[in-house]
Amino acid sequence: MAKSKTVFFCKNCGNESPKWIGKCPGCGEWNTYVEETVVTGKDQKLRTTITSNEVVKPISIAEISNTKEERIDLRNQELNRVLGGGLVAGSLILVGGEPGIGKSTLLLQIALRLPQYKILYVSGEESQTQIKMRANRIGIENKNCFILTETDTQEIVRHFKTIQPDIVIIDSIQTLHTPHVEATAGSISQIRETAAEMNKLAKTFQTPIFLIGHITKDGGIAGPKILEHMVDTVVQFEGDRHYGFRILRTIKNRFGSTSELGIFEMQSNGLREISNPSELFLSQREEPVSGVAIASMIEGLRPMLIETQALVSTAAYGTPQRSVTGFDIRRLNMLLAVLEKRAGFRLSSKDVFLNIAGGIRVDDPAIDLAVLASILSSNEDVPISSRIAFAAEVGLSGEIRAVNRIDVRIAEAEKLGFEKIMISKYNLKAIDKSKTKIQIIALASVNDLYNELFA
Ligand code: TYD
Ligand code: MG
Repeated sequence: MAKSKTVFFCKNCGNESPKWIGKCPGCGEWNTYVEETVVTGKDQKLRTTITSNEVVKPISIAEISNTKEERIDLRNQELNRVLGGGLVAGSLILVGGEPGIGKSTLLLQIALRLPQYKILYVSGEESQTQIKMRANRIGIENKNCFILTETDTQEIVRHFKTIQPDIVIIDSIQTLHTPHVEATAGSISQIRETAAEMNKLAKTFQTPIFLIGHITKDGGIAGPKILEHMVDTVVQFEGDRHYGFRILRTIKNRFGSTSELGIFEMQSNGLREISNPSELFLSQREEPVSGVAIASMIEGLRPMLIETQALVSTAAYGTPQRSVTGFDIRRLNMLLAVLEKRAGFRLSSKDVFLNIAGGIRVDDPAIDLAVLASILSSNEDVPISSRIAFAAEVGLSGEIRAVNRIDVRIAEAEKLGFEKIMISKYNLKAIDKSKTKIQIIALASVNDLYNELFA
């Protein structure tokens, strides 16, 4: 007999409790419990069993053959890179991102570009005609790409067994529904259960499965954190709506590095791979203007040159404004305090606006020096030559600090035709100067920067 009962789930870790509790004993978070209805004691025969015919038994690790991990080349360098060099058999990959960022486009495009593999694209969000329209827009025909509009996991498993695809795409995990749990699609218990079923499917048949997942307002993947533990890889699609480019970041990866980054540009016929990101983040202009400085950055493992733009003006009203895009406002305040205290600039009565060109969000501290240079340049109203790059962190005492992989940053600047690069003097010993033609200027303090630029 099927019986329904109410249970409470932790929104953060998926912990289950028969009654509401304030503090989750699983993860220690407060106020995360929500009520859901589940059905228990259902006829077990209803279950579509996800099993292959092979019997699994324990074997000695020495007997496991050393086959090289096979990876499917997705014919998309950026996605391959983010996954750690291609798609691993049997892996479960969660692709997160805000609505409209391009998750469906990216995965449909991958599916259409791989005619040598049989691909099952399951959509619970769009009709077959809508998907066909998107495919037309991308402009590729592929007979081997099957579109299924279904949300019931039992049906999906049934179709999986008849079609026997090489790759499965689920759009999206929040629309899936398993009859074993009575809650509505998108609820914690549904997400937890359906993701577990998809994982079992991937592992049993060694078929890679992509799960598309929505992102909540605070930036996390909707559903319990446990979802991120269940999958092998989590990648996140980000980007500013107002700019065409999109960034794919690895958050977790059992088969590769998590510091990888893929860059795309949304065009009228789908996403274009950007193999040379610097072209995107440097604005083309002939005459240098004040308030602009270029940083030699590393995002993931890739070097790229990015423009920082500052505008410093006299504050119209009492409290000066500080405003940033693509940069941490607290870090800007810190850098302004350093300028004020260590180099005697009076910026406290000035409005300061800072913008990282292209709207990319930057974490690399090596951008500090370029940020300071652009602020000083705007304040003095003296342009910095667009042939100069910057790469160093700035410390609280106004010292210019060394950054990692300086040789890569210098090489990238040189490759793009920069004539000078300003770095920390503490980075000098890490550099083989005989190999570089670009002029290297080593700085010790913020005052050195000022003198080098304007004295
Ligand atoms: P979509 O893949 O539907 O986003 P998600 O699945 O993450 O919600 O992408 C939607 C946006 O992409 C939509 O605003 C239209 C735009 N787009 C293009 O600019 N070019 C294209 O070729 C396609 C297919 C979509
Ligand atoms: Mg979509």
